[in-house]
Amino acid sequence: MFLWFVCCLVVARLISASDERCSKPPQVDNSIFIAMKEEGQISGIYSCIKGYHLVGKGTLFCNAFDEWTVPTATCHLGHCPNPVLSNGKFNYSWPVKVSDKVTFMCNDYYILKGSSWSQCLENHTWAPPFPICKSRDCDPPENPAHGYFKGRNFTSGSNITYYCEEGYRLMGTPDQQCIDGEWNSDLPSCELIQEAPKPTAPTKYGKALLAFQENKDLCKAIQDFIKRLTETGLTMEELKHTLEMKKAELKGKKCCPNIVAKKTGHRDTLKNKFSSWF
Ligand SMILES: *[C@@H]1O[C@H](CO)[C@@H](O)[C@H](O)[C@H]1NC(C)=O
Ligand SMILES: *[C@@H]1O[C@H](CO)[C@@H](O)[C@H](O)[C@H]1NC(C)=O
Ligand SMILES: *[C@@H]1O[C@H](CO)[C@@H](O)[C@H](O)[C@H]1NC(C)=O
Ligand SMILES: *[C@@H]1O[C@H](CO)[C@@H](O)[C@H](O)[C@H]1NC(C)=O
Repeated sequence: MFLWFVCCLVVARLISASDERCSKPPQVDNSIFIAMKEEGQISGIYSCIKGYHLVGKGTLFCNAFDEWTVPTATCHLGHCPNPVLSNGKFNYSWPVKVSDKVTFMCNDYYILKGSSWSQCLENHTWAPPFPICKSRDCDPPENPAHGYFKGRNFTSGSNITYYCEEGYRLMGTPDQQCIDGEWNSDLPSCELIQEAPKPTAPTKYGKALLAFQENKDLCKAIQDFIKRLTETGLTMEELKHTLEMKKAELKGKKCCPNIVAKKTGHRDTLKNKFSSWF
């Protein structure tokens, strides 16, 4: 009865006196009801008192007929819900009180994932979250795109091997072992094998550069080089790049002060460039 009084007080305080809508919430034993008004919508929430925890839906709304929606919540003995763990066991004292601890253990052939203990908090929740007991057997392995595996035993300690279809190369670890319910490497992938690119034909000035390999005599090589370049119709920019590359090689050597590029519109520029080197 006292609680009912408390809950009514809370409601009375939160819903303004001028707003008489949904003034009387349905009673839920061992709970406190808190009503709120937000953007014209009145809602309420049940919160279980200490030593009890909520089961069901604790939130309700005030409908158009000034009635609360029916609460499905009830408050059960125990400050936090009873612990749960499939394929395992746990010990705790019932009913659960604030700060109580529970310890978890998995059955044989199961492995514990998560925390082996949890504690009941003030706000009726357990932390850290409950663990799970996972079988030591592995889930059936996945197949990578354009790949497959061989091996039929997925028990702990078993091995499988991955392969790729023809024309694909395996990237990652082909041999995998199931260890306590998990495959010990990431799923490999199958990568399309790229055809080796055909060697590209030498570029125009690549051909011209061969002049330096073909001619022992540097003067002759340069003349030959320029002759070939002028035949290619390269732009001045392209030519400049090529010449810069050769410049380092030629530095320090003395020869042919008067190189004349025949049959070219760039005659003077070319000549100037070369004379500045030698
Ligand atoms: C649970 O078991 C552990 C070890 O067996 C023990 O130390 C602990 O006191 C037990 N807890 C409860 C609540 O019984
Ligand atoms: C309960 O309290 C803990 C610690 O204060 C907090 O981390 C957690 O989010 C709370 N849970 C809920 C449902 O409010
Ligand atoms: C799978 O492997 C386990 C352990 O290595 C073995 O005991 C079991 O007989 C194997 N099962 C099959 C179907 O081969
Ligand atoms: C799986 O492979 C590992 C090493 O790669 C080996 O030690 C182990 O014996 C193999 N297990 C089986 C069941 O063949």
